Amino acid sequence: MAQTLLDTARSTPLLLLGRRADPDSERGTICPGDVPAPGDPALIERARAARAALGDDLFVLGHHYQRDEVIAFADTRGDSYKLAVDAAANGAPTIVFCGVHFMAETADILTPPGTRVVLPDLAAGCSMADMAEIGQVETAWADLRAAGCDRVVPLTYMNSTAAIKSFTGREGGAVCTSSNAERAMRWAFDNGDQILFLPDQHLGRNTAVLRLGLSLDDCVVYDPRRPGGGVTPEALRAAKVILWKGHCSVHGTFTAAHVALARARVPGVKVLVHPECRHEVVTRADLVGSTEFIIDTIRSAPPGSRWAVGTELNLVGRLAQEHPDQQVTFLNETVCFCATMNRIDLPHLVWALEELVAGRVPNRIVVDADTRRWARVALDRMLALPGA
Ligand code: 13P
Ligand code: SF4
Repeated sequence: MAQTLLDTARSTPLLLLGRRADPDSERGTICPGDVPAPGDPALIERARAARAALGDDLFVLGHHYQRDEVIAFADTRGDSYKLAVDAAANGAPTIVFCGVHFMAETADILTPPGTRVVLPDLAAGCSMADMAEIGQVETAWADLRAAGCDRVVPLTYMNSTAAIKSFTGREGGAVCTSSNAERAMRWAFDNGDQILFLPDQHLGRNTAVLRLGLSLDDCVVYDPRRPGGGVTPEALRAAKVILWKGHCSVHGTFTAAHVALARARVPGVKVLVHPECRHEVVTRADLVGSTEFIIDTIRSAPPGSRWAVGTELNLVGRLAQEHPDQQVTFLNETVCFCATMNRIDLPHLVWALEELVAGRVPNRIVVDADTRRWARVALDRMLALPGA
């Protein structure tokens, strides 16, 4: 039976904001010790001192969407693909992951079992990853089987829980990121007739249509809140790509009107967007690509270039600072940070580092052995993609 909105709400623990009033649901503050006040003028010094004390035993990973105050302490920064590769390659016994929960899970899966992966705030989740729960995905898989779709390859975006990566590995599929979604789709069509792409419908559609040359009619959207996904068995059988009805709450805010406005306001502007944006946005943009692609594009552009960038605001702000010889603007006129990426702030980082210095491991992310085994298979398939 399809899950209702209420069922989903019931299965997600509430995040209470009182101070340890309910330790089960207060995911951000479950360790002993107080998170320092944001206004503490000694925060930077405290972070430096704790970082120095931890030396080579610690490796700090920072996603490009992190705040400036946090990314300054990252030993390596990257998009989710690069960070997965860097986590796997580094041998430090402790990793502090400045990013969101699914990324820290991935680091735990890709590192040797004893490695301690710490997420400075457990409430740093991802609204897109939360749009696909494992029970819903299993129901969808059963719906596909019942419809007679028996050569479907599941592809899950990195932005999904370890349980879904594990499901994907067990069912013959792979993980992908925004930088290798095209290669992953081509690999999937070499191994089956149809793709179940989750949880981001936009990355799936944009890749299928703009990179593989499929048509919009080749794609159907499976809505986990509706019986049978809201798609008839005939339509499921006819589709080349079955898109999960999920999206990014940050990239989903950009619209065709924003593109038109940017063009009207900034003569000669180039619109550069992430493929998590809606189809109407990417088809109107000049350039579309992953976070690393966006950074490289601006880095290699000549002075005087003008950009309207459709991705997370911490990154766009940093690009503007780093390239004062170019005009870098945000595609949306309203401020739009990723709220969960922003949960990792300097106070939480200082708290996590000082806990480690004190010999405690705060907010450790551990993926259980069975989940880990199959999730690793799906991640290894991604890492083995040609050209990856
Ligand atoms: P990438 O890091 O793969 O570009 O994904 C963007 C994103 O939204 C991460 O949460
Ligand atoms: Fe999730 Fe979007 Fe935030 Fe990335 S930017 S963590 S996909 S909500």
